[in-house]
Amino acid sequence: METSLNEQLKNTLLRALHAGADQLKKYFDGTFEIQSKDTLNNLVTEVDKKSETAIIEVIRDEYPNDFILSEEVGELSTDSNVKWIIDPIDGTVNFANGIPICCVSIGVEKDGKLLMGAVFNPFMNELFFAEKGKGAFLNNKPLKVSENKNVNAACLVTGFPYRWVEVAKDPIAVFERFIRMGLPVRRLGSAAIDLCWVAAGRFDGFWEYNLNPWDIAAGYLIIEEAGGTVTNFKGEPYSVYDKETLATNGKIHEEMLHVINE
Ligand code: IPD
Ligand code: CA
Ligand code: CA
Repeated sequence: METSLNEQLKNTLLRALHAGADQLKKYFDGTFEIQSKDTLNNLVTEVDKKSETAIIEVIRDEYPNDFILSEEVGELSTDSNVKWIIDPIDGTVNFANGIPICCVSIGVEKDGKLLMGAVFNPFMNELFFAEKGKGAFLNNKPLKVSENKNVNAACLVTGFPYRWVEVAKDPIAVFERFIRMGLPVRRLGSAAIDLCWVAAGRFDGFWEYNLNPWDIAAGYLIIEEAGGTVTNFKGEPYSVYDKETLATNGKIHEEMLHVINE
């Protein structure tokens, strides 16, 4: 019974994901309106809104009473124990500049715990999916984090906020420490893709300060189901509502925590 309910949920999740991604594909090479949000470089395009509308339409059709938390519309709150956490475009700055590293990200929480997550980059045709306890997949192939145990041989990825925020762990200082260790540190511009690429073993670790639940929800479950570890910067159990995210293959987690907290 539960299985078929989850199958139905998965079906809706994937249809919603594709409905959003269709909008990204439709407008990528064309013209669209771009606006700044709270800061000059924190952008929203009309495609973010079109993608969001298309996603919510699919979900509402099947599950009219579910709670929705989506970046551009905010909370559409109900008393449901199921919450859809949506980023209609993760990597909007990339999208607005014609850089094909962007995606749609949707996580589904049930009773406060992530049950399913999916991230789709239509420009690389990469669909990442995970269900709690059932593993993580890239285009239906099982995913596993990397085996690297040595932080000195790690390939890392991070991101920086668009607005300077005073934080205890200065993002530039932490970045500098990893760079001075001689490590390759990438900045792709889409936290959801960063997380999925850790799950796929392309990166050994990712850290970022000040993300929002819609950036992380799906990717968090995808990493966990691929055998990785996600915590805050104290190494404590993670919540997508946390402001500190450290996601690794598990084997270099302690060493990364050490460098972040130096
Ligand atoms: C952003 C991306 C970026 C991260 C920013 C996010 P958006 O999301 O995930 O990688 O560094 O903090 O805001 O605005 O493109 O949805
Ligand atoms: Ca985002
Ligand atoms: Ca977004």
